[in-house]
Amino acid sequence: MAKKNDDFFVEKKPWSVVKDELLSCYFKPYVSKILHTYKPLVYVDCFAGKGMFEDGNPGSPLIALEIIEQCRASTTMEHTNIAATFIDLNYADDLRKNLKAYPWVNIVSGKYEDNIAAILRGKERCNVFLYIDPYGIKALQCSFFDNFARGRFNSIELLINLNSFGFIREACHALGTTFDDKAIFADLVEYEPTTMDASDKSIRELNEIAGGDYWQPVIRAYKNGEINGYDAESKFAEQYCKHLMQGYTYVLNMPMRIKKGQRPKYRMVHATNHRDGCLLMVDNICNRWEALQEIQSGGQLMLWAENFDNQAVADDDIGDKVIEHFSQYSDWISLHDALAMFFVNHGPICSTGDVKKILKNLDCEKRLAVQRTPGVKKNGTPTTFMTEGKGQAVSVRWMK
Ligand SMILES: C[S@@+](CC[C@H](N)C(=O)[O-])C[C@H]1O[C@@H](n2cnc3c(N)ncnc32)[C@H](O)[C@@H]1O
Repeated sequence: MAKKNDDFFVEKKPWSVVKDELLSCYFKPYVSKILHTYKPLVYVDCFAGKGMFEDGNPGSPLIALEIIEQCRASTTMEHTNIAATFIDLNYADDLRKNLKAYPWVNIVSGKYEDNIAAILRGKERCNVFLYIDPYGIKALQCSFFDNFARGRFNSIELLINLNSFGFIREACHALGTTFDDKAIFADLVEYEPTTMDASDKSIRELNEIAGGDYWQPVIRAYKNGEINGYDAESKFAEQYCKHLMQGYTYVLNMPMRIKKGQRPKYRMVHATNHRDGCLLMVDNICNRWEALQEIQSGGQLMLWAENFDNQAVADDDIGDKVIEHFSQYSDWISLHDALAMFFVNHGPICSTGDVKKILKNLDCEKRLAVQRTPGVKKNGTPTTFMTEGKGQAVSVRWMK
């Protein structure tokens, strides 16, 4: 359902609440951790909106700024170097008004596509975090993301709202078929929906958004009746993440629902080159999952433990997946590297602690070898930690 743009900010809708919950639950631990790299943090909200909804609820800019202030207030570091930029094509004046309590921020009136390169120029060696929450798919040219990955930043992370069903619908138009599933588009109110037609121009635009033409065989399979529209969306999202993985080692694909029991309506994609960023995202989604479920279910009681994809979580299934994944490592590998790849392959289906528990059992059963540095405590007893960093390293290798 397409809507007039101004309506978006009248009241904060459930899908905005879910998105913002995801941003805030990750951003807080991210800022605390990243400050300890002693390198500047550059935060850019590329499609910032008005800053605040007319019903008084905070938008993504106020949510991020509050977290930055909290982290600054609670850190023991003497000096924190954080720059925050908010770009919006239509609402820079509202941003200036709604963010006036934060005079140090940079507000840019214009298109993200026209401004982002200048904002990131000279930011080599900084930690860069980009929040990318456009209305539709048009401004999501993948070549931008590919270029950011080549920048010489100390680290770069992207959190992208991908309207994957919007992409499928327009890809269908471009290849002469239709996907207008009423159930999908009923509560995913679309603002500025992109409309494509069966032309070479549309196909070129879709190639630019997707970062290749891999979506075309997916749509053809749908057109020929080999797969349904939901499979097409999930295959597209999988390939999209694979494309991003050419530039970012760890890409998490997170299907989001607006209401409990529904199929996913859109995807949030987190891309980073840091395994610990990926693991932090996994744990924070899992920690906050109850709150996210609460929002998505409107407070209904949950009968079963469900994962981010609202599928009942079967412990056996996770155990099988852990064995399948870790049995590929016949040579020593860092535990955190292997863990991050587990979640890239399967999505945030459980916490890192759940997987570590299974690995400890596999260690006891002598199916997995675990090597720790340091290997012994001060009192001479063997160490048992399963977390890397702060002078601790853990490697694992599959035995049988
Ligand atoms: C989904 S809203 C963002 C909502 C915001 N993240 C929040 O939580 O409040 C998308 C915003 O992108 C802006 N916009 C549209 N095209 C843009 C572009 N090319 N560059 C930057 N902003 C754009 C719109 O004016 C709109 O405010």
